Amino acid sequence: MYLDSEDESILNGEYGETRQKMMEILLALGKVFNAENLVPITSAQISGASYKTIGEWGLEWLNNLDARVAVPSILNPIGMPRESWRDIGISTEFAENQNKVIKAYKRLGIKMECTCTPYYLNITNYGDHLAWSESSAVSYANSVIGARTNREGGPSALAAAMIGKTPNYGLHLFKNRMPEITIEVESGSGVHSGHYGAIGYLAGKIAGNKIPFLTNIRPSRDQLKALGAAMAASGAVALYHVKGITPETKLPTFKTEPVEKVVIEQSEIESLFEKSDVDAVAVGCPHCSPDELSRLASLLEGKKTTKTFFVFVAKGVKDSNMGYVSKIEKSGAKVVEDTCIVVSPAMDVFDTVMVDSGKAFAYVPNMCGCNVRIGTLEECVLAATS
Ligand code: F3S
Repeated sequence: MYLDSEDESILNGEYGETRQKMMEILLALGKVFNAENLVPITSAQISGASYKTIGEWGLEWLNNLDARVAVPSILNPIGMPRESWRDIGISTEFAENQNKVIKAYKRLGIKMECTCTPYYLNITNYGDHLAWSESSAVSYANSVIGARTNREGGPSALAAAMIGKTPNYGLHLFKNRMPEITIEVESGSGVHSGHYGAIGYLAGKIAGNKIPFLTNIRPSRDQLKALGAAMAASGAVALYHVKGITPETKLPTFKTEPVEKVVIEQSEIESLFEKSDVDAVAVGCPHCSPDELSRLASLLEGKKTTKTFFVFVAKGVKDSNMGYVSKIEKSGAKVVEDTCIVVSPAMDVFDTVMVDSGKAFAYVPNMCGCNVRIGTLEECVLAATS
């Protein structure tokens, strides 16, 4: 793999032991995937931020590092809201450990935004190379923004953040971004606006690790977010294209529809929306956009929650949308920043949780140990208030 003179100096330890180790991680990765060089990145998003997922060993590894990041870098959701962790039933012991993880990342120069929706923080543009690690963020960056990132693990994202570069392979190369399977969505009189998470859940199972080309749908940005997050969870989709909607499908060099074609029938989508009792409701997986907060605020107007209702959001988005947040919280729902349904221990106490997300639908049973139901946002509000 080609290294320039500065890369060589880092590798020789001239910039300290931590950077040397980080360069070794990138080189090892590059060799496995036959990367020809390193490509500069504009930002990094680092997973392994919840004490629930990294534990004592991960914390010790972080505490032994001695260098700061070279590009704007943020974290994946952590295990609790940094300030109001008591409000969602987090134990003092967990909070103390989580705070140690936060401190360790802060020391490395990482910005304390803990979110799977870094694209709302305006840190990326079309064509940027990134080292992001959370699967739904990776999917959105590649597919909706047209930036380029592989799905990094926590250590490789951190290594890229400290070096400011990542191995140039996989989805960083345009030739590897062509669609491999067509998935047509049977939409009848039109796809229900709340069904994109469920469509993504089904499409991810079909696509596996292939790049899908979805046809017959016209999703909005929030619907693309739901679609991609679910495909990344039920399959391993890090990039997808939607005919005439996502940016790379409009390029003259984009290849035409793949021959392999599968149809998702409307009855399959509808069959996921079964009715049964739930004891908690959670939305904001991926974290809510300002538009989604606005919709929730109007759906909850004049209503009171009868069961736990969590709304997950990035702190930056929460802080700049306090008008909607106050309206939502007036109903009894809790708008929770920094964390999420899967990485927080707060969800583990429920029997059946209702979500509006195909990704949460795929992950909650294993990650939180409870049953899950999927509904539209309207159905989630109804379940939480009746
Ligand atoms: Fe984000 Fe957590 Fe869902 S990281 S996509 S809210 S599982």
